[in-house]
Amino acid sequence: MISQENNPYFEAGFSANNQETDVPSLEISGTIPEWIHGLLIRNGPGLVRSEKLVNHWFDGLSMLHRFEIRDGQVGYRSRFLDCNAYRAVKETGRIAYAEFATDPCKSLFQKVHTLFQGGPAITDSAKVNIANWNGRAFALGEPLMQAEFDKNTLERVGVFDYGQKEKTGVTTAHPHIDGARLYNLVQQFGARSFYQILSSDGGAVRKEASVGVGEPAYLHSFGMSRNYYIIAAGPLVVQPITLLVGARPFIENFQWKPERGTPFYLIDRATGKLAFQFKTPPFFSFHHVNAFEREDELVMDLVIYDDASIIQHYYLQRLANPEIELPFGRLCRFVFNFRTEKYTQEYLSEQCIELPHFDYAYGFARPDYRYVYGVSLRPDRRRGFYNQLIKIDLEARQDKVWHEEGCYPGEPVFVPAPDRTSEDDGVLLSVVLSADEQASFLLALDAKTMQETGRARLPQKVLFGFHGIFFRKKKRYEWLVGEWIQVAR
Ligand SMILES: [Fe+2]
Repeated sequence: MISQENNPYFEAGFSANNQETDVPSLEISGTIPEWIHGLLIRNGPGLVRSEKLVNHWFDGLSMLHRFEIRDGQVGYRSRFLDCNAYRAVKETGRIAYAEFATDPCKSLFQKVHTLFQGGPAITDSAKVNIANWNGRAFALGEPLMQAEFDKNTLERVGVFDYGQKEKTGVTTAHPHIDGARLYNLVQQFGARSFYQILSSDGGAVRKEASVGVGEPAYLHSFGMSRNYYIIAAGPLVVQPITLLVGARPFIENFQWKPERGTPFYLIDRATGKLAFQFKTPPFFSFHHVNAFEREDELVMDLVIYDDASIIQHYYLQRLANPEIELPFGRLCRFVFNFRTEKYTQEYLSEQCIELPHFDYAYGFARPDYRYVYGVSLRPDRRRGFYNQLIKIDLEARQDKVWHEEGCYPGEPVFVPAPDRTSEDDGVLLSVVLSADEQASFLLALDAKTMQETGRARLPQKVLFGFHGIFFRKKKRYEWLVGEWIQVAR
């Protein structure tokens, strides 16, 4: 039995359901810069316990967390994402849809419409990420059902399914957005499986590319540069028939086959054709970071692991043990040369990093992008869960960190300062769990120095989540009662 004394973060971070909450104004210490004006919306598990605890960090049902930041003040609202999987738990008290590593009990299989022939229906709880697509907000998951929601009320208002009527596939929660158009990788499973790149500007869905594959890999993200889509298909692969039969939870159908190495598919964005294929030694990766071209080369930065054991480490049974060390994710740069068809591989930092983040609006596909932020593990406190924030300077090859005893931070999100003078001129926002206080706070760090500017305390804990995004609100000025007043739009 795990108690709070021997595992201070487990109950608060992983195993207790969150509550829907409205707090108009959080208690602030220090300073939340007054120029920050907008919404930080984060996604992650909020309901992890029904008749029993789910199996894995990736299995809880989505809760959206909305921090409204204005004039140095912070308001907070949280809501469960309304979806069939959530309604089923509310009505039956049990998980009724297949999650990443948790299936419903067998007797519920027949009660819900099946998507893959033999198994239970796949969750529609889009719990992983948030997208800002032409000003519209979407909760993103890996099933082919992304949920549009109202940024203010957090109510679901629609679904985007990539035009896929046959839902024998999955997508990623990490689309790329270039201008008005959203691009994502969709995997179709069947006798012949496919990695497909689909895109949409909000209207019809366009198939940009399709690569056939016998045993598809588990893919959590993909890369995109100005001219290429990049798929790094690590050797955690599946025989699609096992997914179609549906005897085991989704991820437990995949097998680690290191002898296959890691094929990189570089697909020409203009033609949709496979332009280059490279093979590197085996590694596992959740997160591509950024990709760019320079002369005859394509450069691709990813967070990689030696193998896929990180997935095993995220099972809650293992996370409950504070003595276990998580494998280190490492930021790695691959440089592919189109002329020589050779590649190089280099680690960009010695430190652990996961949930990597960079200023996408500024640095997407730019050769001079310089900073990557993320969660990390302190080298002298490797046991337990992510306990520091890190900033990796790709040019100077230096790291800066923030940590505080007993604190477990989530993914940092960068918010640029108005009229900024450098890429890191701005603030990082992170939801941090204080194990001592058994409550969370929104931390604001000066992104240049990684020093705290202030924090906004929540009256409760927030389960460890995944990804979020900042929706910047523009300020406008109106002539009111004899003076110019700044009005939020
Ligand atoms: Fe992710």
